[in-house]
This record gives sequence, structure tokens and C-alpha cells, in this order.
Amino acid sequence: MTLLTVDGISVRYGQLTALRRASISVKEGESLFVTGPNGAGKSTLLKAIAGVVPIREGAITFAGTAVAGKAPEDIARLGFSMVPEGRDVFSGLTIDENLRVGVGMRADKDAAIRDLETVYSVFPMLAERRHRPAGVLSGGQQQMLVIGRALMAKPKLIAIDEPSLGLAPKVIDDVYATLLKLRDAQGLTLLIVEQSSARAMLTGGRMVLMRSGEVVLEGDARELVRGDALKKAYFGYGDH
Ligand SMILES: Nc1ncnc2c1ncn2[C@@H]1O[C@H](COP(=O)(O)OP(=O)(O)O)[C@@H](O)[C@H]1O
Ligand SMILES: [Mg+2]
Repeated sequence: MTLLTVDGISVRYGQLTALRRASISVKEGESLFVTGPNGAGKSTLLKAIAGVVPIREGAITFAGTAVAGKAPEDIARLGFSMVPEGRDVFSGLTIDENLRVGVGMRADKDAAIRDLETVYSVFPMLAERRHRPAGVLSGGQQQMLVIGRALMAKPKLIAIDEPSLGLAPKVIDDVYATLLKLRDAQGLTLLIVEQSSARAMLTGGRMVLMRSGEVVLEGDARELVRGDALKKAYFGYGDH
């Protein structure tokens, strides 16, 4: 079943067209890897789905509901959870408190507190440090924390913007291992946005390449990374 359909959306910031009739779709339980150079419109795509920036044309359907024009919290309530770029943790709050912030939007607060334990079982490293301030965590641990916080909303889909940015390769592998475990063991749908396509091989599934606000290539992640079409399209060789 298709969980998310983005159909021909355009976004403008003043005079600048950041997205030009971009379309993607993600099936339940699969992962879609979105890559492309800086400024391609990847983050804008996530923000448009999340309802943070308005679209000028096109349609977005999430979990069977047309969501374009809805408030971000209403879209989140349908099961869309976004982890923005930059790993924004509340460094003065404890890890426990940071995770509880993710409960804010849920009506069933008691159940949500139980889910805290579920998140801790996914991230034992966070459980061990639950009463320490988030500011003491390394970059990789902070990435785990923001993913954990997104999970507290019990999402159907997690959209994550540049999870690798600024992390050491070993730590990136750990972050991906966790994401893939959530996908494969719990059926969590993943929408991963990265400027670098280095980890696309690892995730498998489908992949799209964006450039200048457009989706220019789409296919099986492993096949695209192996061939040279991706490299050519990434850098725009053969354009006219
Ligand atoms: N808030 C904003 N105001 C004006 N221009 C923006 C804003 N956010 C992004 N842009 C521009 O929109 C384009 C797409 O940006 P973005 O979606 O961040 O791309 P990516 O995530 O692929 O690097 C870029 O040209 C960027 O400079
Ligand atoms: Mg970006």
C-alpha cells in the first residue's frame, strides 16, 4: 500500500522556485532515499510534506488523507514524523525530558510514557544516560536522541534530513543500522534525505535524485549507485 504520494508539487521562496513539479511515492514499510546536490530542494520537499512550507501546485496524500494546506501538527498526528537537519536537542534538559517533549502532541499520555521504555529498548545507550543532560552526548548520540524523540509520536513514517552530516563513518553506520532495524522489525517507513548517496547501497529500496528542484532520476538504490547514470545526473553531465 502506498503511504505517501507527492504529486507534482512546486514551492517558491519569493522569486526562487525551490521545487518544480516534484513527485515521489513511498510504500508502507519501504525506504526511499532522496539524494542530490546542495540546493536541490531536498529539505524543501520534506518541509512541504510536513506542512511547514506551503505548496503552489500539486497534491500530497499521506495515509489516505490529502494533507496539503493542513497544519504541521495535524499532519504529524496522521503518523508523519520529521527529524529536521541539525540535531536540535534541548541540551539543558535531560535525555528523558528530551524524549518526553515528543509526547506533547499525543492524547494518550499514559501509553506514551510506556512508549518511552520502548524507545529506550531501541537505544540502550540513551537509557543508560536518561538522567544526564543531552548536552553531554556526542553528535552520533544526539542523532539517536532526535530519532528517538521522533519515534515517541508513534509515526508510520519517519522523514530524516541529513542524518550523516558531520558524523564519523562508524557512527553513521550505527545510525543507519538502527533505522534499518526499525524498518525491518517494526515496519517503520523511512524517507531518508542525504546530499551524499554513500549510504544508499546499504538501505536498498528505492532512490530518487533531485537537482534544481526537480526529481531527475528514480530507480532501485543499489542499481543506481552501481551504474554511472546517478553520477552523470548528479553533476548534470549531458544536460543541454
Ligand atoms: N527559507 C528560505 N528562503 C529562501 N530560499 C530558501 C529557503 N530555504 C531554502 N531556500 C533555497 O531553496 C533552494 C532549495 O533549498 P533546500 O531545499 O534547502 O535544498 P537542499 O536541502 O537540497 O540543499 C536553495 O536554492 C535554497 O537556497
Ligand atoms: Mg537540505
